[in-house]
Amino acid sequence: MTFSFDQQIDRRGSHCSKWDLMETLYDVSPDDGLAMWTADSEYPTAPCVIDALRRAADHGIFGYTSAYPEYLDAIQWWMQTRHNWQIDTGWILTTQGLGNAIALSLDVWSAPGDGVVTFSPVYHEFRHKIERADRRLVECPLKRTGDTYALDLDDAQSRLDGSEKILIWCSPQNPSGRVWTRDELRAVADFATRNDLLLISDEVHQDLVYPGQTFVPMHVAAPEAQDRLVVLTAASKTFNIAGQRTGNMIIPDSSLRAAMARRLNTLDYKPAALSLTMIAAAYSPAGAAWADAQLEHLAGNRAVFDAAVNAIPGVHSLPLQSTYLAWVDFSGTGMTFDEFDTRIRKAARIAPSAGPGFGAGGESFERFNLAMSRAQIIEAGNRLQDAFGDLQ
Ligand SMILES: Cc1ncc(COP(=O)(O)O)c(C=O)c1O
Repeated sequence: MTFSFDQQIDRRGSHCSKWDLMETLYDVSPDDGLAMWTADSEYPTAPCVIDALRRAADHGIFGYTSAYPEYLDAIQWWMQTRHNWQIDTGWILTTQGLGNAIALSLDVWSAPGDGVVTFSPVYHEFRHKIERADRRLVECPLKRTGDTYALDLDDAQSRLDGSEKILIWCSPQNPSGRVWTRDELRAVADFATRNDLLLISDEVHQDLVYPGQTFVPMHVAAPEAQDRLVVLTAASKTFNIAGQRTGNMIIPDSSLRAAMARRLNTLDYKPAALSLTMIAAAYSPAGAAWADAQLEHLAGNRAVFDAAVNAIPGVHSLPLQSTYLAWVDFSGTGMTFDEFDTRIRKAARIAPSAGPGFGAGGESFERFNLAMSRAQIIEAGNRLQDAFGDLQ
């Protein structure tokens, strides 16, 4: 079966944040701008997901729902068949997306003033959630080694003062695209154990891993750390259904799980039934075939985009091991962030995510979302080459 990753759908005026907030947030008009910031995709989700929604719409009744075992079974099947991770369906708690899961975790397992450790550059919402909850961000920079990033746990250790309660880990890493090895994951788990930290492993980009790399779930790499482990997964990035606001906390340890289940119960949190219908349909053999095809499309986009931007003197797109989020270093241009960012937004009319937002190490970067049609990627490459044409 062929899928339509090159289909271009006009999302403007559809209440989608990526296009309809672009002018307000980036001063790039949606009339002729290209939205390459927030992490969702420009093509429709898998046909099996849309079919499931159609069947639900045809049924026509959207009343209260009971337990939804197909949804839990589908997650279990996906983790087993796609990631070699054996989970018990009883370990799964459902949240209103992973940002919500992180905020809930801060609430349940730390107190105002406690330190929360991250490894930067990393998904900016980790910092926002920590700061909004009045916790203290303990930012540990990753070490840039050529085209990639490595852990520097000695440096990280020197930044801790013993008041830290939680480590929020991103695997694979957004924005660098690093796919961590089993040894690196074990070192992080060991670091969490030595410092008595709850380990939140955000694995939302687990399915977007390019050939040659293998994603290893933290629980598989370091089962001995399961008494401090909370794993976050979701179908939202893989299947472009982030607007359904549904994610999973997979918590193998029964007392940790009971604490979170109590909080969810107190808040009377219950997921929206249609989102569960979509996830159950996505995590299926048909969904897997679509996800494989998507990855091929993204690998092609990555190659075309990298060739275009790497031809600009001083600009370097780091070779992505995973994710559809190109991480591009402009330091070789000798420009300040404002100088190259203004060219990108004003001359190229592209809105990427600003690198400094991802914390220490992101100062000379921009993050470009490549989950779009090939034609849009070619257009983006041409626009960037024109905007920096005087450097040729
Ligand atoms: C690492 C990571 N975690 C969480 C999220 C957001 O998850 P949600 O939309 O479910 O809040 C993102 C979105 O880009 C992400 O990259």
